[in-house]
Amino acid sequence: MKNRTFVTELSLHLGQEVTLAGWLHNLRDMKNFGFAILRDRTGLAQVVLEAAHLEQLKGLQLETVIKVTGLVKEKKSKDPNAKEVEVQCVSLEILSPVVDAPPVEISKPDLDLNLDTLIDNRVITLRHPKQRAIFKVQAALVKGYRAYMERQGFTEIFFPILAGAASEGGAEFFKVDYYGREATLTQSAQLYKQITMGVYEGVYGLSYSFRAEKFATSRHLTEFNQFEFELGFVESMDEIMDHAEAAIREMLGTVEKDCAVELKLLEVTLPPLGDAFPRIALKKALEVYRDEGGVDETSEPDLSPAGERWLSTVWAPKHYGSGFVMVTDYPTSKRPFYAMRDPKDPTNTITFDLVGFGSEIISGGMRVNKYDEQVQALKDKGLDPAQFEDYLMMHKYGIPPEGGFGMGLQRLTQNILGLANVKEATIFPRDVQRLRP
Ligand code: 4AD
Ligand code: MG
Repeated sequence: MKNRTFVTELSLHLGQEVTLAGWLHNLRDMKNFGFAILRDRTGLAQVVLEAAHLEQLKGLQLETVIKVTGLVKEKKSKDPNAKEVEVQCVSLEILSPVVDAPPVEISKPDLDLNLDTLIDNRVITLRHPKQRAIFKVQAALVKGYRAYMERQGFTEIFFPILAGAASEGGAEFFKVDYYGREATLTQSAQLYKQITMGVYEGVYGLSYSFRAEKFATSRHLTEFNQFEFELGFVESMDEIMDHAEAAIREMLGTVEKDCAVELKLLEVTLPPLGDAFPRIALKKALEVYRDEGGVDETSEPDLSPAGERWLSTVWAPKHYGSGFVMVTDYPTSKRPFYAMRDPKDPTNTITFDLVGFGSEIISGGMRVNKYDEQVQALKDKGLDPAQFEDYLMMHKYGIPPEGGFGMGLQRLTQNILGLANVKEATIFPRDVQRLRP
């Protein structure tokens, strides 16, 4: 639409006539005049209507799509410093009339719906300013990630979703019928990003990952996105963790810069970053959880969800001023076939998880880059190397020492915004029960 003014630009047009377009977010009818709240993609504005305009809206419901031409005026307010503006409507045009009342009321400051109702009615609930804000923040995370990776000179790659073999092992993958053959939906871009190490040395991308999770938890989706990263000629895993940390700092910085309005609306203060994210071996983390957190999981091969929460929201903020912790040295039994084993101790891998303000948001580490070692590692995991012939070509024909990570987009969004369920951080979530909308 040409000559359209957005709500956030109104104050620049004080005293002028402008044209707004958007949805009828709310309406107060005072008989001889009325107040409409118009919502566009930037925000909400009050429009003062005359009786004739109210007449035009008769029989129409909230969410009717309108075009308003009117005069920008200072809004009368009790607070003389408020400096708000409103639009005195001169003419009103109905672009799309809505005659059915929407199934949920979205003009309230808070939706106050249970999660299923929120998502069942996603088409409408997404229009609520607080829901909209979540995915503006998510977009800013992506922008920050891309900006960081581009500045390093890395190459953005688009990875396939349909694949012949599962990458992360286990049974959590979807099978699809591919012209009578069995294909899988990629659990991660893992194998493909590693293959690109034979060429680009540094790659990144935003991939789709699918996991046939058995249960719907507050942290698990069946379809999600990963910020992928892979780097060649790496001498130590610290280099990978350095990039993970720097990327997150830039991503949160971008949110802070671009989404001040959204953060305020959501009443969110981003998690603290501290001077450096602490790095702690898993064994040590379990001991710290026992000694300081009072919960003994030292006989477990991994931190529990409660342990991760404690470590990243209590321990790390207290000692390091950071809501992010790098946990390193996971046992070989807990990591996939591509994870590099510790040359000093084959039961240990050179891998890490980044626990970000509540739960794991990144898994990463160094990879096996020698052919014989990789064939053996596949066999050790009970996998058939013949199924991985294409993948193994890269080892056979030379890839540098390399490593990388995958970071869950929805998990990160959930944790930095303090959302109780990852589905709230997913625009159209899929889980064990849900495949709509
Ligand atoms: O830990 P994951 O399974 O690791 C990988 O896929 C590796 N290929 C990464 C690598 O480069 N080594 O998944 C990576 C991240 C997790 O840390 C989590 O943030 C997210 O993806 N994730 C999920 N998010 C939502 N629902 C699920 N079911 C998820 N599974 C993993
Ligand atoms: Mg993981």
